[in-house]
Amino acid sequence: MNIILFGPPGAGKGTQAKRLEELLNIPQLSTGDMLRAAVKAGTEMGKRAQKIMEEGGLVSDDIIVGMIKDRIAEDDCKNGFLLDGFPRTEAQAEALDTMLSDSGNKIDLTIEIQVDDTKLTERICNRFTCSQCGAGYNKISQPTQVDGVCDKCGGTEFSTRADDTAECVASRLETYHEQTAPVLPYYQHKGIHHIVDGMADIDRVTEAIKKVLN
Ligand code: AP5
Repeated sequence: MNIILFGPPGAGKGTQAKRLEELLNIPQLSTGDMLRAAVKAGTEMGKRAQKIMEEGGLVSDDIIVGMIKDRIAEDDCKNGFLLDGFPRTEAQAEALDTMLSDSGNKIDLTIEIQVDDTKLTERICNRFTCSQCGAGYNKISQPTQVDGVCDKCGGTEFSTRADDTAECVASRLETYHEQTAPVLPYYQHKGIHHIVDGMADIDRVTEAIKKVLN
């Protein structure tokens, strides 16, 4: 099954994608993670993307579409994939349809996680990640069981994202409303779009998504 998770920054796309990845045994394809890996590796593309990401803007459609096209062609995507953070513009949605139909494939389901803007800054500014295994946490909603120790790998080093400042979140939200929200009707018209309440706690959001999948 090929699925897209939509939602504003901090809606819980990454959190739910990790759970669905295990549940459905299909890979999470996060363009944000791919870009952050390129920034970390110091590639030319990463250097260009870094400034845009820290300003809360969108990296160019050409770069993103090329990146996803290569990733979808990999072996682990042959039974399906879960897109997290892509498409984010109408041009990306159209390019995705073209690349999938070229291989006789399509998007089966889109799930939009809806959260009030006021909640998102609080969520994002309290997010942190284990530097060793990448497990995600939140000081308020998802703390580690033992303070300062990762539940999954026992690591004690944690990091935060460069774009997780209140100022950048405001700009990312504006970008979402201006450029990504207009993509949603494209999938509503196809009759494959579902909305879940992302204001509920993490487990309840997972349950709501499972209902959609069933
Ligand atoms: P990206 O990495 O995709 O960031 P984003 O869309 O802003 O989303 P986030 O990762 O911030 O949030 P999320 O929805 O995954 O929430 P999470 O699960 O972590 O993109 C980063 C940048 O890369 C973009 O700004 C852009 O510049 C560039 N980019 C990426 N894709 C692109 C594209 N296609 N085109 C162009 N540019 C692109 O949850 C957030 C926190 O809340 C966590 O701490 C979590 O524990 C907590 N939480 C989650 N769910 C709940 C809940 N139900 N209740 C309480 N707390 C919760």
